[in-house]
Amino acid sequence: MKPDILFHPFQLKTLNLRNRIVMAPMTRSFSSNGVPGQNVAEYYTRRAAGEVGLILSEGTVIDRPSSSNDANVPHFYGEEALAGWQNVINSVHQAGGQMGPQIWHMGIMDNHHSGWTPSVPFEGPSEFNRPGFANGKAMTESDIADTIAAFGRAAADAKRLGFDCVELHGAHGYLIDQFFWEGTNKRQDQYGGNTIAARTRFAVDVIKEVRRQVGDELALIIRLSQWKPADFNNKLAKNPEELEQWLTPLADAGVDIFHCSQRRFWEAEFEGSDLNFAGWAKKVTGKPTITVGSIGLSGEFIAGFQGESSDPSSIDELLRRFDRGDFDLVAVGRPLIANPDWAKKIHEGRDAELKGFSRELLGQLV
Ligand SMILES: Cc1cc2nc3c(=O)[nH]c(=O)nc-3n(C[C@H](O)[C@H](O)[C@H](O)COP(=O)(O)O)c2cc1C
Repeated sequence: MKPDILFHPFQLKTLNLRNRIVMAPMTRSFSSNGVPGQNVAEYYTRRAAGEVGLILSEGTVIDRPSSSNDANVPHFYGEEALAGWQNVINSVHQAGGQMGPQIWHMGIMDNHHSGWTPSVPFEGPSEFNRPGFANGKAMTESDIADTIAAFGRAAADAKRLGFDCVELHGAHGYLIDQFFWEGTNKRQDQYGGNTIAARTRFAVDVIKEVRRQVGDELALIIRLSQWKPADFNNKLAKNPEELEQWLTPLADAGVDIFHCSQRRFWEAEFEGSDLNFAGWAKKVTGKPTITVGSIGLSGEFIAGFQGESSDPSSIDELLRRFDRGDFDLVAVGRPLIANPDWAKKIHEGRDAELKGFSRELLGQLV
């Protein structure tokens, strides 16, 4: 199949994308003391010059004393870090790209292998990063209120700096997802509960605060995953009805686009249909969605961290589903680390020139 269908523009609120290709958010840990430097600006600008439609930044953390477990993950607060981000977005715009930061609070974490730890304990809905592993403290109501406000300030700063959208990191077992998951949310108050609908309360309050601070026009994306690093087979929503109960409150609170993280985009979400997570999210909310996971690569990313190399692979199945209208945008991670001009090469039919992914590529920011 021809990839031309991916090269139609996409318009939604503040987004005016030249094509449907999104750079997936990828932590690179090259921002010393939380400040993204010129090397980070050049890294993203290369992808903008390589025709990526929308760049989502690596996760960048909000203004809470234990929002991060890694000293080299960028902050999205403080004068120096925000000046760094200003340089990033100016440079990406000059290269014809559009970009949003992925706003992040890690929640309860494992200690980082570097030995660096934040000045205060990790915080989450309960003490757990995963069932049976506690490594921090349960947030008080005032911690929660302060965290919600900090998410809102980060989004307001993104708008002020001129970013084209904001993505909230609500996936992969980090803070917002820790509230969603019964395995990590043991709260008895209004932020806990026995149903996925009840456990959306924290995310809903974050989204409402973001909307209060940025208004209606800034495009707002939330990234979600059913899987957790501790349990790849986990399903927060076990069927389409539960999916609707999870996503509808988020859409009602102000989400414009659902970014549906899978490790392999072609895996069916529920029995009886080949629709994937993004396909179902679009079907139950009517909102645009982004799919992701091993697009154009032979192996998936967690195995990639463990050293498994991936070769370039056909995107025909992706095109088939895109053409059917399952999702609106397609996010690509590792292929864009290996090939800053991945989008351009796909556009020009130069697939044979694409390089595969190997873990060694993570050692440099190119
Ligand atoms: C080095 C690396 C860092 C990542 N960091 C993040 C992150 O900060 N936030 C996030 O939501 N996902 C993160 N991911 C997941 C990617 O966004 C993406 O979902 C995953 O790599 C699957 O896409 P791919 O198969 O095209 O690489 C990361 C992945 C990689 C390879």
